[in-house]
Amino acid sequence: MKLPERVTICEVGTRDGFQIEPDFIPTELKVEVVNRLSDAGVPRIEVTSFVHPKVVPQLRDAEEVMAKIRRRPGTRYAALVPNDKGAVRAVDAGVDVIHTVVSASESHNLANVNMTVAESLEKLRDVMRIADRAKVAVGCGISTSFGCPFEGEVPIARLESVVRRLVDMGAPAIGLADTTGMANPLQVGRVLEHLMPQFPGIEWTLHTHDTRAMAIPNILAAMECGVTHLDGSIGGLGGCPFAPGASGNVCSEDLVHCLHAMGVATGIDLDKLIETSKRVQEIVGRTLPGQVVKAGAFTRRYPLPDGVAARLP
Ligand code: COA
Ligand code: ZN
Repeated sequence: MKLPERVTICEVGTRDGFQIEPDFIPTELKVEVVNRLSDAGVPRIEVTSFVHPKVVPQLRDAEEVMAKIRRRPGTRYAALVPNDKGAVRAVDAGVDVIHTVVSASESHNLANVNMTVAESLEKLRDVMRIADRAKVAVGCGISTSFGCPFEGEVPIARLESVVRRLVDMGAPAIGLADTTGMANPLQVGRVLEHLMPQFPGIEWTLHTHDTRAMAIPNILAAMECGVTHLDGSIGGLGGCPFAPGASGNVCSEDLVHCLHAMGVATGIDLDKLIETSKRVQEIVGRTLPGQVVKAGAFTRRYPLPDGVAARLP
């Protein structure tokens, strides 16, 4: 395998993860999780989203969370934004980066943001203007890039046209999101090999959900294509409330563990990430899908069973 020496992880658990939690997580606890992630050296955190508070009530405290987190130099704090109103709120709240959202498929876009794809792209043009004026960076995510839970297959030409529109508007970074875990590694490779050479200079992110246990294989396929930016969520929290069957993102600590085991650097302290995952399990009150938090790192050793040491040749 041809793997990069280093990748940049963006933690999305406090946005993609928390947004689907039914019980309101007190603002202080959200802030605590973000601070722990910062302490673990996570270079990018998608802290929250600036969406309609009636649509995602869990994240109605976005301004307050942004105001209360401790900012670690070296971490970039982002938020998800669907439209101009969200962009103004995000800029006022002092985000470093705005992550925009539009889907590759019409049905998911209507279900998610109540706009056609063309209407969303018009709004995102305003978002980019607002961000540009405020000197806030932008990254553009595309939901259902590899398949739509309503429409099924998303033709590559369709995805390409959305990418092209965003790049033409000035997007410096594109995130391809597998919103409901429909992608497979061969498909990820095929899509990236098709898109990446056409848009030189673009920073590509893969945003995965582990709905069908293909997230890490998909990430490996993307890394082989040269992708060095990956989203993950602590404990494997997550899921889109507007995509039936959606479940958690790739688990950040499992991903970091896998990368470190292969010698790929992330700059993240895995032990601190695992501690954060345990804390998040306490906060949401249930066991999360993450594996390494249960098994420990592959370097973990157990005492020999009785009598075995004496018989070792
Ligand atoms: N933040 C807060 N309020 C917002 C807003 C935002 N980003 N965008 C719009 N509003 C308000 C408007 O001011 C308006 O308020 P009013 O009724 O008091 O005048 C109202 O919402 C309706 O505005 P409209 O533009 O018609 O929005 P809508 O009802 O069609 O909803 C979205 C569109 C995008 C705001 C909504 O669908 C949304 O927030 N979706 C996000 C979904 C999400 O987070 N999905 C998971 C992430 S992938
Ligand atoms: Zn997602």
